[in-house]
Amino acid sequence: VSARSQRGGFPRHVAIVMDGNGRWAEARGLQRLRGHLEGARVVREVTTCCRKLGIPYLTLYAFSTENWARRATEVRGLWALLERFLHEEGATLIQQGIELRAVGDLERLPPAVKARLKQVMDQTRGLTGMRLTLALSYGGRDEIARAFRRMASAIEQGRLHAREIDERQVARYLDTADLPDPDLVIRTGGEHRVSNFLLWQIAYSELFITDLLWPSFSRAALRRALVWYAGRKRRFGR
Ligand code: IPE
Ligand code: IPE
Ligand code: MG
Repeated sequence: VSARSQRGGFPRHVAIVMDGNGRWAEARGLQRLRGHLEGARVVREVTTCCRKLGIPYLTLYAFSTENWARRATEVRGLWALLERFLHEEGATLIQQGIELRAVGDLERLPPAVKARLKQVMDQTRGLTGMRLTLALSYGGRDEIARAFRRMASAIEQGRLHAREIDERQVARYLDTADLPDPDLVIRTGGEHRVSNFLLWQIAYSELFITDLLWPSFSRAALRRALVWYAGRKRRFGR
């Protein structure tokens, strides 16, 4: 990611909990999936906007480990929507120089989604305009448990010693090993909770919560969050 994109008062890494699609649809007497469809449009808008602003890392919470417990029709609809999104957006991502990555338990993804995701990740590998990370079948606790498993096998194989485990080592075993911690977390939909998103990584993130439902989020709303962030005094406990 180019150093050029770094500016004073700008977050390097913005992470978003895109909540409220269902409520947006229900308030209009529409199916929840219509809300998700509208949400996908906002994903495009916000991604392009962050790219233009020169934010190097954008991470979007699209599907949590808990979301698997939703009705089968909604779960299927969400994955179908993501597959379509990946089909339609591949070219745009390349054109905008955006590298696509994913975090989460990707083994659980439907095979067609997994295949398409891999394809777009391969096509965009090494692009330096911005890194877009999708959190898919993602849970912070699940990620930490998987990291423990990998660390334990590294110890069993003699590649790691217990005494070497410190915060830096732990971070290396997480899905986000090559991402800086989020500076700014935005949550739409008005809930004041973390919902299992990036538990380790948000230790010192600034949290911006808006009542806007995700389909009603916009460039203007993003700009308001960035202005708010620029006014924060980050002390990191000092
Ligand atoms: C967020 O919107 C999208 C996902 C969790 C996949 P919701 O579907 O949670 O919408 P609400 O919170 O029910 O309104
Ligand atoms: C968080 O929203 C997960 C995503 C945005 C993908 P949820 O709607 O699943 O979270 P809760 O149920 O409000 O905590
Ligand atoms: Mg929700």
